[in-house]
Amino acid sequence: MSNFPFPRLRRLRNSDAMRGLVQETHISPSDFVYPIFVTHGRGVRRPIESMPGIFQLSLDYLIQEVEEINALGIPGVLLFGIPDRKDDEGSEAHSPTGIIQEAIRIIKQTSPDLIVMADVCLCEYTTHGHCGIIREGVVDNDPTLEILSQVAVCQADAGADIVAPSAMMDGQVASLRLALDDSGHETTSIMSYSAKYASSFYGPFRVAAESAPQEGDRRGYQMDPPNSRQALLEIEQDIAEGADIVMVKPALAYLDVIATAREQFISPLAAYNVSGEYLMAKLASETKWFDGQRIITEIITGIKRAGADIIISYHAKEVSKWLIES
Ligand code: PBG
Repeated sequence: MSNFPFPRLRRLRNSDAMRGLVQETHISPSDFVYPIFVTHGRGVRRPIESMPGIFQLSLDYLIQEVEEINALGIPGVLLFGIPDRKDDEGSEAHSPTGIIQEAIRIIKQTSPDLIVMADVCLCEYTTHGHCGIIREGVVDNDPTLEILSQVAVCQADAGADIVAPSAMMDGQVASLRLALDDSGHETTSIMSYSAKYASSFYGPFRVAAESAPQEGDRRGYQMDPPNSRQALLEIEQDIAEGADIVMVKPALAYLDVIATAREQFISPLAAYNVSGEYLMAKLASETKWFDGQRIITEIITGIKRAGADIIISYHAKEVSKWLIES
């Protein structure tokens, strides 16, 4: 008995109150950003086959959606547009009357306090489905930067609070920062998808956003999944270029990257709990072997515990409801 350990870690686990007292990680609706797919038309609330519970919304439904998000205490939304017209250069992405610009304007009119983030990428807008423009068979970095900058300025003109470049072009943050500052948008923030991996977990999103590449894949610009030190280089570079918030994406298979990034950098860190992660949890929840609320809460808690300050998640609304009810 004499050398029985003095610490008995179970002491702090013997009631809800005691567990609560020593709980290290708390999740809250204020941690979340909710992604939304916006489409043309009126009265459209089109279920996305690959993402149960998620819809493509027309602007009238968008107004209702953001009111609900506001009421839940979720501070921001991340907008993706589904244009009615695609071309080789994705020019609809920087049309002042494009779907994303209309969506930004309407949210800023109806829910001005909600933080509006807009995805800056071309894949939803190009006929070929790549994130940049193609020259001689490759996605050509530097000419793409000019177009991405036009997209960001156009979104900022419409009222976006944060622009979020996700194309994984080198120099995209610096290029956006210069263009925003030159056009009087020095207060518009940049959340960069800094360490964005070429992941199979984006499959369901590409159905939702109608953005699958027609040929090839994105491995020539998105990161290679086995690499983590390279993620730190990407993040370091983006911070140097002026990113206000950096991101690791996806989240679940990359919790190590989130944890290391949290240790190494001071900037706010976002994690994107992507479409495939959402679909897996939803499908698992439908079986009798999982309690959906509990596995989803555990997943979100894990992402927060790993070090994410901001969690972009399709689960944001349901988790916020559970948190409010509990
Ligand atoms: C656009 C973009 C993608 C996602 C966010 N922005 C798709 C891609 O890179 O193919 C994926 C989000 C998700 O899977 O939820 N480039």
